[in-house]
Amino acid sequence: MSDPALQFVPREAPAPPPIPAVQTHELSRVYGTMTALANLNLTVNRADLFGFIGSNGAGKTTTLRILATFLTPSSGRAEVLGQDVVRDADRVRHLIGYMPDFFGVYKDMEVTEYLDFFGACYKIPANVREKTVLDVLELVGLTEKKGALIGALSRGMQQRLGLARVLIHDPQLLLLDEPASGLDPRARIEMMAILQELQRMGKTIIISSHILSELQTLCNRCAIIERGRLIYSGPVQGVRGETHAGRVFRVRVAGDNARAIELLRTRPEIQDVSEEEGRIKVVLDESLADAGLVAETLVRGGARLVELREDELGLEEVFLRVTKGETQ
Ligand SMILES: Nc1ncnc2c1ncn2[C@@H]1O[C@H](COP(=O)(O)OP(=O)(O)OP(=O)(O)O)[C@@H](O)[C@H]1O
Ligand SMILES: [Mg+2]
Repeated sequence: MSDPALQFVPREAPAPPPIPAVQTHELSRVYGTMTALANLNLTVNRADLFGFIGSNGAGKTTTLRILATFLTPSSGRAEVLGQDVVRDADRVRHLIGYMPDFFGVYKDMEVTEYLDFFGACYKIPANVREKTVLDVLELVGLTEKKGALIGALSRGMQQRLGLARVLIHDPQLLLLDEPASGLDPRARIEMMAILQELQRMGKTIIISSHILSELQTLCNRCAIIERGRLIYSGPVQGVRGETHAGRVFRVRVAGDNARAIELLRTRPEIQDVSEEEGRIKVVLDESLADAGLVAETLVRGGARLVELREDELGLEEVFLRVTKGETQ
């Protein structure tokens, strides 16, 4: 007989699926007769560092403002951590930190005064506010500037102060509208490092940009929108596959290129062969072949291969292909 104690071991209920950080359902927004956002279905998971990419006028700011509860959708809906952005707007506001693309700063205010003011707006009790302000300043690397006037900060520092401001109430989700625009390369890298640190702390971050390559090492997932429509959502590197651009190789042979080009053109897996600046450019069908085919074709045909390297198709080129340069 089996041990009766074992028969009553309570089974653990399966964990419910996690609530996504952001989910939009057929979200649309029109301004007059102009459709700025059309039936957007977007999911951002918790702890994602999510790139939201599109050219000027694509609808990035419109989407972020809806998620931040500053703009109402014309139709469809959006949820932030399970809360509806229209119905539960107050609750959503406490869960998010929204950094707009342009924000005024009070130039004659001191850095700590400014952050203390926003802390008070979020009803952080006075006795813990000072520590909270110092904590967020440390997070964004502005501790040394705590007594400085905002007007005396560089652009990069002001952007970091803007980030400190949206962190003051310890929100779970950050909505950052082009936080790196106008920053020099060093300030951009610093900003990206801060965002990675925030992701490690468990925050979900949506960052908009019109530069896909800027986000390729930073973000784990991204969406691309164009004319208010979603055209891609998934891992950043997945964008490349979406274009079916083929793989491009550059080849150099000893002697005459013409014979090598002739050899390569006999292979059906090779989409295109052309001569460019003394080298041979070969475009391969991604699913059918790899570099070995190019080498084998040339060597078997008696050509002497000097160089064969894959040309990384720049992400910006991929982006341009995906969006076809359509802006409005
Ligand atoms: N208040 C408004 N009234 C009328 N049209 C608007 C308004 N705000 C935005 N639009 C239009 O909606 C479209 C989307 O604008 P949005 O600001 O969301 O784009 P974006 O992707 O943030 O662009 P950018 O990269 O230039 O910041 C644009 O065509 C814009 O002209
Ligand atoms: Mg914008």
